[in-house]
Amino acid sequence: MTWTSDFNTRFLAFISTRYPHQTTLMDAIRYSLDAPGKRLRPQFVEESARLIGLSPLVSEPISFAIELVHIFSLIHDDLPCLDDDDLRRGIPTTHIKFNEPQALLAGDALMIMALETFSLSITQVSAQSYQNGFRFFLECIGVNGMIGGQSLELEIKKPSLSDLIRIQSQKTGALFKSAVLTPLLLKGLSQHDSQYKDAEKYADAFGYAFQIADDLEDESQDLASQSNKNILHHIGKEKAIQMAVAKLTECELAGKFSATNLVLKKLQHP
Ligand code: IPE
Ligand code: IPE
Ligand code: MG
Repeated sequence: MTWTSDFNTRFLAFISTRYPHQTTLMDAIRYSLDAPGKRLRPQFVEESARLIGLSPLVSEPISFAIELVHIFSLIHDDLPCLDDDDLRRGIPTTHIKFNEPQALLAGDALMIMALETFSLSITQVSAQSYQNGFRFFLECIGVNGMIGGQSLELEIKKPSLSDLIRIQSQKTGALFKSAVLTPLLLKGLSQHDSQYKDAEKYADAFGYAFQIADDLEDESQDLASQSNKNILHHIGKEKAIQMAVAKLTECELAGKFSATNLVLKKLQHP
């Protein structure tokens, strides 16, 4: 059994036990959770937890919580008022399959489910570690994290390279950072520990490389309207790939996380 199918089994069983309600809202949520995502963020949580020796009793709810946040963000991102996309993960987006109001509410409810799920780890760690981990998780999602990054992207019509790097690191990078680093904080590490700094360096490099790989995919699908809003356009394809590969491979922890190879393959064979 692959890690992804094992995760899907655990994740979907958790949701159906905890949220068995037969409502349109839950149908829309289950539809979005069932869609075939790569589950990169929960995999980071579980690999990071294993590296640091954090119990699966703590890391499992965190991995579920992060995927719930990610799915909430995708449902909202696809709505007509944002990217207005009809397809996601190869199937109709939630607002196309259901309707816009139910998709909006499914996203709202998923965020709350994520917070409830995160809180299940509270009995397993010290109060201080829980506070540090939870606060960091929230920061990565909120105004200075993913949601703030999406807002900046909408607002800045002609982004400079530094704008693009900031937007990327908030919009996409912050959730990866949360996935890699929240387990370390829950284990009791401080942001000043060298182990934390190494993991932070890796998470930053991964977020950047993931974005370049994503831009390359957009380019191959000829999403020309996005071209002034991507890093490739600013620094050139070859240089962007070279920088992303170098940043990622110089990290000591690169070999410890499965997603490294996935992104390196995409960068080296776009
Ligand atoms: C897609 O993320 C959205 C972005 C942040 C660019 P993923 O590529 O991880 O999407 P799924 O979860 O596998 O569908
Ligand atoms: C996805 O961003 C949504 C978030 C990061 C919150 P994008 O709009 O760049 O990615 P796709 O193309 O929809 O997957
Ligand atoms: Mg989008």
